[in-house]
Amino acid sequence: MSPENPLLTRAISLGHDKSKITEFYDEWAKAYDHDIVDIIGYVGHRVTAEALVSRVSGDAEILDAGCGTGLVALELKKRNAALRIDGIDLTQGMLDEAARTGAYRRLLPGDLTATLPLSDKSYDGIVSAGVFTNGHVGPEGIDELVRVARPGAPIVLTVRDTAWEADGFDVHIRDLERAGAIRLREIKHSPYHAHEGMLCRLCTLDAV
Ligand SMILES: C[S@@+](CC[C@H](N)C(=O)[O-])C[C@H]1O[C@@H](n2cnc3c(N)ncnc32)[C@H](O)[C@@H]1O
Repeated sequence: MSPENPLLTRAISLGHDKSKITEFYDEWAKAYDHDIVDIIGYVGHRVTAEALVSRVSGDAEILDAGCGTGLVALELKKRNAALRIDGIDLTQGMLDEAARTGAYRRLLPGDLTATLPLSDKSYDGIVSAGVFTNGHVGPEGIDELVRVARPGAPIVLTVRDTAWEADGFDVHIRDLERAGAIRLREIKHSPYHAHEGMLCRLCTLDAV
C-alpha cells in the first residue's frame, strides 16, 4: 500500500466533529473532484452507482446521502438519465458544487447523525459513498437511510475498510438485520482509493 495522501490523513482525523468536518470540506470543495479522483484514485462514486443502477428502474426517486460535489449523481445519470436524484450533505460548499452539476432534482443541507428533513419511506433507492469512514459518520447514520427508504428499496453504501470493525459497522448492520429493519443483500470488498490500495466494504441492504 502507498503512503497515505495528506488530504486523506486530514479527512480521517476529523473525529466526527461537525464543525471540523464542514470547515475541512468547505475549504476542499472546489479542488475536491480533481484531488480525489485524479490524485487519490477514488472510485466510491463509480462502484456505488454501478451497484445501485441495476436495482432501480425508470425514473426512480433516489437519495444521495452525503452527496458532496455530486460525483455519484453524475455517475448515476450516465447510466440512467431519467433518475430523479435528491442530494443531502452537511457542508454548504460541497452542496454549492453539487448544484453546478445540474444532476439533482433537489439539494438540501442535512446531518446524517440527526433526523434528516425527509419523510419516512420516500425513496426508491439510496446511495451513500465516502461518508461512512473514519472520523465522519458512524454506523448509526445508516438508521436514517433505512427510515427514508421505501420497502424493498436498495440502500448502497461504502464503508472504508479501516472503519468496518473499528467503528462497529459489521455489528450494527447485523443488528438491523436481526431487528427486521433490513435484508442484507451483499457485502463485498471493493476498490476505494485505488492509488492508495485502500479497499472498502460495498454494502447493499434492502429496506423492509
Ligand atoms: C468524502 S466526501 C464524499 C462525497 C461524495 N459522496 C463522493 O462520493 O464524492 C464526504 C462527504 O460527507 C459529508 N458529511 C460528513 N459528515 C456528514 C453528516 N453527518 N451528514 C451529512 N453529510 C456529511 C461531507 O460534508 C462530505 O461532503
